[in-house]
Parts: sequence; structure tokens; C-alpha cells
Amino acid sequence: MNVKKTDKIYIAGHKGMVGSAIYRLLKHRGYNNLLVRTRNELDLRNQGEVVHFMSSEKPKAVIIAAAKVGGILANNQYPYQFLRDNLIIQDNLINSAFENGVKKLIFLGSSCIYPKFAQQPMSEDSLLTGELEPTNQWYAIAKIAGVKQCEAIKKQFGRDYVSLMPTNLYGPGDNFDLETSHVLPAMIRKFHDAKEDNHAPVRLWGSGSPKREFLYVDDVADAVEFALTRELSSNLYNVGSGIDLFIKELAEKIREMVGHKGEVLWDADKPDGTPRKLMDVSKLKAEGWEYSVKLEDGIEQTYNWFRSNLDNIREVKFD
Ligand SMILES: NC(=O)c1ccc[n+]([C@@H]2O[C@H](COP(=O)([O-])OP(=O)(O)OC[C@H]3O[C@@H](n4cnc5c(N)ncnc54)[C@H](OP(=O)(O)O)[C@@H]3O)[C@@H](O)[C@H]2O)c1
Repeated sequence: MNVKKTDKIYIAGHKGMVGSAIYRLLKHRGYNNLLVRTRNELDLRNQGEVVHFMSSEKPKAVIIAAAKVGGILANNQYPYQFLRDNLIIQDNLINSAFENGVKKLIFLGSSCIYPKFAQQPMSEDSLLTGELEPTNQWYAIAKIAGVKQCEAIKKQFGRDYVSLMPTNLYGPGDNFDLETSHVLPAMIRKFHDAKEDNHAPVRLWGSGSPKREFLYVDDVADAVEFALTRELSSNLYNVGSGIDLFIKELAEKIREMVGHKGEVLWDADKPDGTPRKLMDVSKLKAEGWEYSVKLEDGIEQTYNWFRSNLDNIREVKFD
């Protein structure tokens, strides 16, 4: 099903980094019937509230950018919440969308659904072919359940429910809390704070030797619109740039951008996670979508955003 600009589209998680980028992009491109709710207005873990919302609003399409999201430290510390909150949020949304006749649904997952030692670059076919990375298996298992739930609905009922698996994302609105954030925003914050502190030394997690891929959040928003507006041939697609780099190289790029001149110390006793994670992005490319924002440009835009929002930086705390 192809969504039109006048169709009612519900974006779950529109206050988050990805959801807000999707909201901005769709609004900018002329979609004029966007439906949103803050967490205070609608707690997505509450089944009754979600069912009531979906049955009274009856959106044409649903985009699921709401989830409990965090880095290695947060995943390790809160395995139960990462598993259960995500299972519940996505089941409430997917099932109530299904029961209320929603024809098109985009479910956002993450590259951590693929096995720790999946052949690189990781293709969609590597799903469930090996063991997951233990540190974020809780989150990954919930996301795999979401992918399979959408796949089952498509297989059994022919609904156009598509799962997009983005690589590591970054950009405006990211979480900059050092306890719960991902690697790229954490580095921006650490280098910025150290520079302000007379170029104090910066201590970074792990050895710096794993390789990772990063995608600017506006690119994933563009991929969501792409998937929303055409009938894709499959139910699962990777979204990435297809280019990776060493974490040490990333640190150097951010250090240069920020202008930090102090020492960099690596905490090699902290876990590195998967040694290499690179998406095979050929499947979505074959449908006609490609990333556009270069890493250096994206880091610059994110750092500019960070500096102009210093008083308003998002710091996610878990309880
Ligand atoms: N960030 C990445 O690097 C990355 C990479 C790959 C895939 N993804 C995927 O992209 C999606 C969005 O990630 P993100 O980075 O945008 O995360 P985020 O910034 O933490 O946003 C998540 C959103 O979900 C909302 N939410 C969480 N629990 C909720 C609840 N119980 N009720 C209502 N709203 C709730 C949050 O609300 P509050 O604003 O109230 O907290 C927030 O708006 C996730 O599915 C994630 O797996 C992200």
C-alpha cells in the first residue's frame, strides 16, 4: 500500500531522535495529517490505552520509532526492561494496528538483531543463523520478535508491514547522557566537556579496535518515507551507508571537529561488543534507496546542534 500525503500517519516515539527526524522530514515534505502523542499522553506499555487510541484514531499508516533504547552499559544493567518494555510497546502497537485495519506499518529495529559473528557485511539472510552479542541480546530478542510479528501478519493476511533495520544512528536530539548513550554522542560530549575543561584527558570505553558503521538520522527518516510510499518486495531491509570505520578513527574525527587538544585514554577493560558490524545495504539499494549524508558532515551538524542546545541536551535516565 502506498501512503499519500493526506493520509493519517501515526508516528510512535516522535519525541525521540529517530521519531523527531521522521516527523520533521514528513512535515517538510508536505504530509499534513501526522498523528503524534507524547509519553505523558499515551504510555505505549499500557495495552488498554493503546487499543483505545488506535481504535478511536484509526490511522492509515503507523511508524514505530518508539522503543527503550540505550548503549552497552544500559543494556547490561537493565536487561529485563530492555526485553520486556520493547516486547510490550511493539506488540501493543503492531497488534492494535492490525486489529484496526492499518494497511501499512513500518517497524524500526536495529542491526543488533543479527548474530555476533555474522558474515560481514551482514545481510538480512543472516537473521537467526547464530548467537547474538550477549550484551544487547535482550533488546535484540525483542526486536527479532517484532520483525517476525510483522512478517507473520504480512504472510498470513497480506498486510504491508515492513521492518527496517538501521545501523548505528546519530544526529540532533540524540541522548547525551554518559550512562545510557551510544558511542558517538558520548564521544561528542566527552570531547566537548574536556575541551571546556582546559583540554583535560578524555577516557573512552574499550580498546577502540572494533569497526562500526554510522548513519545520520535524516537519512533513516528518508528511508522510512521511501518505504512508506512504495510497496517493497520483501518484509525486512537493512538501512545503512555500507561503510564502516574503527572506533579509534571515529574518536579522531570527533576530536578534530570539537577541537580537543588533550590526551585520549582507552579503557581496554571495558567490553568492546561485536568486533565488526557493517550492514549489507544492497537489498534496499536494489529497490532504489541510498544514504546521502557523509559521516564528517553529519558529525559537524550534530556537534553544531549540540552546541546550540547545551541548555536543553537530552539525557535519558533509566529506572
Ligand atoms: N539510536 C540508534 O542508534 C538506533 C540505531 C538503530 C535503530 N534504532 C531504532 O530506532 C528507534 C528509535 O530510536 P531512537 O534512537 O530515536 O530512540 P530514542 O531517542 O530513545 O526515542 C525513543 C522514543 O520512544 C519513546 N518511548 C519509549 N518508551 C515509551 C513508552 N513507554 N511510551 C511512550 N513512548 C515511549 C520515547 O519517549 P520519551 O521521549 O518520553 O523518552 C522516545 O520518544 C528504535 O526502534 C531503535 O531500535 C536506533
